[in-house]
Amino acid sequence: MPAPFPIAVLASGRGSNLAALIEAQRAGALPVGFTLVASDKADAPALRIAEAHGIPTLALDPRGYATRRDYDLDLFARVAATQPALVVLAGFMRVLHADAVAPWHGRMLNIHPSLLPKYRGLHTHRRALEAGDAEHGSSVHFVTAELDGGPVVAQARIAVQPGDSAEALAARLLPLEHRLLVASVGLIAAGRLALNADGPTLDGRPLRAPLQLRTDGELAAAA
Ligand code: GRF
Repeated sequence: MPAPFPIAVLASGRGSNLAALIEAQRAGALPVGFTLVASDKADAPALRIAEAHGIPTLALDPRGYATRRDYDLDLFARVAATQPALVVLAGFMRVLHADAVAPWHGRMLNIHPSLLPKYRGLHTHRRALEAGDAEHGSSVHFVTAELDGGPVVAQARIAVQPGDSAEALAARLLPLEHRLLVASVGLIAAGRLALNADGPTLDGRPLRAPLQLRTDGELAAAA
């Protein structure tokens, strides 16, 4: 059996995306190994989930660092020490400094709850409703210094229903987010999805539009 693909996960909160990655790995559906789960919040439920599965954890408090850059560089030095091939931001609620992001170009993913490039930043569900959008969704993208602005590789879509609230939309989207993230990490672990100087590639060919999550949980080229 090939060695598992080493990943580190950064999460600030609930950790349901982390849990989905762990569950897929435990089920034999995702050939990864977790080098570290790190958080900026010592009380993040994500850390408890990792601990319960015997995954090394790090809680690093941003207070006590003179600058955001200092914190980010220290955090990523500690992440790098665990030697992940990929860093996954799964609800990591901090804007990262460009100097910390640069060494991870093509090796860091984020999951964001909107159909990027729409609605970077916060309150995405509410903003989609306020705009009267007929559909909403979630995106996985490679991380660059621009917040929620790196190349999008995969998306999951849901229809907005009459009377939807932001909470209802978020709840309906979440299970799809989990499948989206697991499938995206799976493609990277398999060496099929990558980022080169011209943009994302799938099986060595340019990926011209984000992959779309099908109902069977697989990612497919956009129709
Ligand atoms: C998800 O909606 C993700 O898209 C966003 O933050 C949320 C994290 O949820 N970036 P969880 O902590 O994984 O449950």
